[in-house]
Amino acid sequence: MSGAAVSGYAVEWLELREGADAAARATELVPLLRPFLSDAPLVIRDLGCGIGSMGRWLAGRLPGRQHWILCDRDSALLAQAVTRPPQAAADGGPVTVEVEAGDVTELRAADLAGTSLVTASALLDLLTADEVAGLAAACAAADCPALLALTVVGRVAFAPVDPLDEELGAAFNDHQRRTVDGGPPHDSAPDGASRPASRRLLGPDAADVAAAAFERAGMTVHRRPSPWQLGPAQGKLTAQWLEGWVEAAVEQRPDLAPSAESYLHRRLAAGAAGALSVVIGHEDLLALPAGDRS
Ligand SMILES: C[S@@+](CC[C@H](N)C(=O)[O-])C[C@H]1O[C@@H](n2cnc3c(N)ncnc32)[C@H](O)[C@@H]1O
Repeated sequence: MSGAAVSGYAVEWLELREGADAAARATELVPLLRPFLSDAPLVIRDLGCGIGSMGRWLAGRLPGRQHWILCDRDSALLAQAVTRPPQAAADGGPVTVEVEAGDVTELRAADLAGTSLVTASALLDLLTADEVAGLAAACAAADCPALLALTVVGRVAFAPVDPLDEELGAAFNDHQRRTVDGGPPHDSAPDGASRPASRRLLGPDAADVAAAAFERAGMTVHRRPSPWQLGPAQGKLTAQWLEGWVEAAVEQRPDLAPSAESYLHRRLAAGAAGALSVVIGHEDLLALPAGDRS
């Protein structure tokens, strides 16, 4: 993978969401994965690892010695991730970590040699259809299972409802699907391919696109819902999420700014009074190599 960059994800945000993420993850996919894992030591490559939340959740659910390769393009997040490694495997076996800075969309099958499992969490919606297809092709060619968690699906349900929920939600989803700059060109693009000048992010289409890509690559796909369920006990997370949700919606639809401001004000007030709940849709996807290993 080529050199690291800054992602814009704050350590505090990733810390704040870790509990809700852990509660939301589709635990029932783990037993389906186990027969497809090689003997210990497992080598697990966590793509877009942030501060390493996925490892802290999964390592204790898998048996045997594990070595996690934490991959991200944000070296500040990697520096944090390495200070808080997963504690132990399910059977108490040791877990070691190393970090790898760079762009995970450049991973190819050869990079996955010796990898027992690829994981990612809250990553797929930030990628393009071609990038997800490349990841699926790499995993399939390397015969490597992939557990790809917490992909946003574009469904948000508030209680109580507000007349502006739907319009803001649609604007937010369009923002998630926006086209962004492709980033600086560099010399080490895979297969001699040049980096595209712009990238259209998948946003809420990511789960469907990824499922189709992994199936096309010959893998068996299992999908499970993994929504955040935010109530009064998650007030701080709800407030920060709401601010980001409304800000993105207004960036997409500046005409919504005046009504969105009062919307945010009344939603934050309801949250502070313990009178707001939100279910934010996500999906977990497990892609398994072809063949029955049960
Ligand atoms: C929403 S955060 C999720 C972090 C972590 N997986 C978690 O669940 O807490 C997305 C992460 O993906 C990383 N990321 C996004 N695109 C990437 C890319 N192309 N290559 C490497 N890292 C990437 C970001 O730097 C960020 O850490």
